[in-house]
Amino acid sequence: MQTLTLVETGLAILAAMVANGSPVIVGRGTPLDAGKRFIDGRRVLGDGKTVEGTIVAIFYGLTIAITCGVALKDPKLVVAGASAVLGAVLGDIIASFVKRRLGLPRGSPVPIMDQLDFYLGSILLLLAAGFIPHPVVAAAFAPLIYVLHRLTNMAAYKLGIKDVPW
Ligand code: CTP
Ligand code: MG
Repeated sequence: MQTLTLVETGLAILAAMVANGSPVIVGRGTPLDAGKRFIDGRRVLGDGKTVEGTIVAIFYGLTIAITCGVALKDPKLVVAGASAVLGAVLGDIIASFVKRRLGLPRGSPVPIMDQLDFYLGSILLLLAAGFIPHPVVAAAFAPLIYVLHRLTNMAAYKLGIKDVPW
């Protein structure tokens, strides 16, 4: 296990945040679940998780991770950032899977989970990849991300990018 410094943790989380926030620009796309239904008759993931959105998330997230790694001459940052990005994308997808199993339609609000699913995913994948995030930064980011998520989604709604303000 390698310990990440305060800055390294913050930058890995930044890459995860960019990955999580960028797919909203895609709008409609090909559903990741190809429109398929799970054994409960409900959609596996729903129309809110698209192939295009997932590619955009990984692309922009990795761009941040690589840029930070190169700028700070810290190769570890590229690997940590990439892990955080992958965790963010997976966390968001798993949350949709859980929402559909609970019978909640695409886009329905589930406070806390909607805002922090990707964050938990990114922390878990950082750990799985052998990186210990700075505990203070990791803890301090959670409420910050919650507030930022709410604000940016409201802004995206007002700008007509998103259908709902959450
Ligand atoms: N999005 C996407 N592909 C992803 C993640 C997100 O295309 N892998 C886009 C979709 O247009 C989605 C929007 O980003 O509607 C916002 O993402 P999110 O809030 O996670 O999806 P919801 O529409 O709320 O769907 P769910 O109820 O499944 O969370
Ligand atoms: Mg949502």
